[in-house]
Amino acid sequence: MNPRKLPTVVPAADLPSEITIYEVGARDGLQNESTVVPVEVKVEFLDRLADAGLTTLEATSFVHPKWVPQLADAEDLLRRLARRPGLDYPVLVPNDRGLDRALAAGVGHIAIFASATETFAKRNLNRTLDEQFAMFAPVVTRARAEGLRVRGYVSMCFGDPWEGAVAPDQVAAVGRRLVDMGCGQLSLGDTIGTGTPGHVDAVLDACVDGGVPVNQLAVHFHDTFGQALSNTLAALRKGVTTVDASAGGLGGCPYAESATGNLATEDLVWMLDGLGVAHGADLDALVATSTWMAERLGRPSPSRVVRALGG
Ligand code: HMG
Ligand code: MG
Repeated sequence: MNPRKLPTVVPAADLPSEITIYEVGARDGLQNESTVVPVEVKVEFLDRLADAGLTTLEATSFVHPKWVPQLADAEDLLRRLARRPGLDYPVLVPNDRGLDRALAAGVGHIAIFASATETFAKRNLNRTLDEQFAMFAPVVTRARAEGLRVRGYVSMCFGDPWEGAVAPDQVAAVGRRLVDMGCGQLSLGDTIGTGTPGHVDAVLDACVDGGVPVNQLAVHFHDTFGQALSNTLAALRKGVTTVDASAGGLGGCPYAESATGNLATEDLVWMLDGLGVAHGADLDALVATSTWMAERLGRPSPSRVVRALGG
């Protein structure tokens, strides 16, 4: 007997009634795999996630292929993806060369990715903290002029493996510069997963006090220390309505020591279902997809919900 397990729905008063799941498994997840996943598998992964009801699926990155060989097939992937109405496939773009490639591939939504710290800017982008803005500004201006949507990530918002603690005001200052540049949404990254819920409150408060409205904020938690779900709940309580997650908990960053997978989409969906927060995704279809993907990758998913419901 395998009765369908469901959380009991007990809505909480202080939460948004619905949120957008910004799915990053195909990009943040697969960029960190030691082997290159075949493009056919990536296409099927994204198709299955779309069939599961996710509508915002970060597909790949137009970065230097030597820096992230796992995503060197970006053009090929986008050529093969079925573009369905209502489906959004944002891609990462660091510079003008990346934007040229994204525009040629017919992309409608890009994400630039900044660092809150000097060391990670250097390691991830080969730029100083200030130089990163000089690299991004023309990208954002041109993308907006072409009618693209632009998201801005800020990495290392909750701690940096080389520099240690990162002040919330520093995060807010970097984020504000990206919004002033023209980014419509700001995703605050806990790249190495060290944040805790009170810290989330502090960083969100600093951003809002620094002039970024909460409806422009998204959260991007890696689950290295098991805090991603509680951090997400803290962000929802602050009014955040876009949450980044990765099917099966895939993920990490090849240029950040100790970064492991993102918040698993299935773990997020279980919590949202229990809280009565609408999200549009089908948990069974997500679990089936992540179980299938785990077989392709040759190891079980780290998601607790996939483990509890899958197989
Ligand atoms: P660079 O070496 O300084 O590049 O790298 P450059 O501007 O000096 O150019 C050198 C050569 O690379 C040139 O070719 C360029 O054309 C070429 P040459 O003239 O010598 O023949 N080039 C490119 N080729 C293809 N596509 C491009 C591109 N750009 C330059 N886009 C660069 C600078 C930014 C390109 C490099 O550092 C890079 O690709 N970094 C990407 C790192 C990355 O993808 N990290 C993971 C994503 S971030 C993340 O995971 C965090 C996040 O999840 C949030 C969180 O968790 O916190 C988003
Ligand atoms: Mg990430």
